[in-house]
Amino acid sequence: TTHKLLLLPGDGIGPEVMGEVRRAIDWMNAQGLTSFEVEEGLVGGAAYDAHGQSISEDDMARAMAADAVLFGAVGGPKWDDVPYDVRPEAGLLRLRKDMELFANLRPAICFGALAEASSLKKELVDGLDILIVRELTGGVYFGEPKEITDLPNGQKRAVDTQVYETYEIERIAAVAFDLARTRDNRVCSMEKRNVMKSGVLWNEVVTEVHKRDYQDVELSHMLADAGGMQLVRAPKQFDVIVTDNLFGDMLSDVAAMLTGSLGMLPSASLGAPDGNGKRRSLYEPVHGSAPDIAGQGIANPIAMLSSLAMCLRYSFTMGDVADRLERAITTVLDQGLRTGDIMQDGMTKVSTEQMGDAVVKAMGEG
Ligand code: NAI
Ligand code: MG
Repeated sequence: TTHKLLLLPGDGIGPEVMGEVRRAIDWMNAQGLTSFEVEEGLVGGAAYDAHGQSISEDDMARAMAADAVLFGAVGGPKWDDVPYDVRPEAGLLRLRKDMELFANLRPAICFGALAEASSLKKELVDGLDILIVRELTGGVYFGEPKEITDLPNGQKRAVDTQVYETYEIERIAAVAFDLARTRDNRVCSMEKRNVMKSGVLWNEVVTEVHKRDYQDVELSHMLADAGGMQLVRAPKQFDVIVTDNLFGDMLSDVAAMLTGSLGMLPSASLGAPDGNGKRRSLYEPVHGSAPDIAGQGIANPIAMLSSLAMCLRYSFTMGDVADRLERAITTVLDQGLRTGDIMQDGMTKVSTEQMGDAVVKAMGEG
């Protein structure tokens, strides 16, 4: 059976790194490893320039119908002054909302060859492999009321509201436990039950889901502030971390710096099941459109290629092909190939295309 992939390269380096993904897919198809039917659409500034929307209804419909979406990056100074509702980020927000992408997966993997780039000591992060599962559609970023009001004394009052309902915690917990089973079988849940009611409920529901369906997985709980400390003190103690939207936003950025290389980090967003019971899904690098280096052919394609590996693993249960792609990435790094962003003394500096070529070649050999 063929699978439908929608590629949304976006702006800046988005199309450059997506080009390497396209070549990797063509190669995998030619080898008979996959049978993807690939379509491309416009998103962000590119879509705005073409038709005045950050994503067209047509491309939205294609995203909803696709088996998975691969997203590059959006934005750049060119669109700083476009109206708020059609700004480049609006395209991504619309995709997240319509596809109901409630689970954001952010792996923090530290390749031995790059451990020196970490903000921490090499031995603390060498071989690091943790996965942060962040709730993405609820919590304080979306809760109502959300407002700034004027007070009689001339001051103002700002209100954000953290809201979580049982079903939202249940489904994110289930995603985290399911993923743990494919890894080291350990989940650490983080909240602030000592000061937040939503933290109390979070803790109760995660515990309940564990007791009901996942007793084989090891579950621990940590207060989110202590979790932040532990993440920097001894990050390798964690396997899967599950947490809410706000804490997940911060903790995943901290985890990103542990690996020290923005151009290397993939992410996945998983959603509610579609009509066939299959989860909607979108895969994207953590980095943005990097306008400072766009158009020069020097962007690091590894974050985008790793996002493809996550796609193979989570949307298509092609773990073996994903492993092969990830092994190929490790191989080229061990061979000393580096794009400018991860360049080290004595290594070989390569372009986006040369890096992509080398990864595909290494896949052929391993
Ligand atoms: P950025 O991630 O685009 O760039 C930060 C720094 O890292 C830059 O120096 C850039 O050259 C470098 N960098 C990032 N990815 C790289 C790669 N693959 N290879 C080599 N170097 C890389 O973040 P920044 O500068 O804050 O934002 C630039 C634009 O991207 C803005 O318009 C922002 O809104 C947008 N953005 C979009 C995101 C998305 O589409 N999901 C996420 C983050 C930012
Ligand atoms: Mg963030």
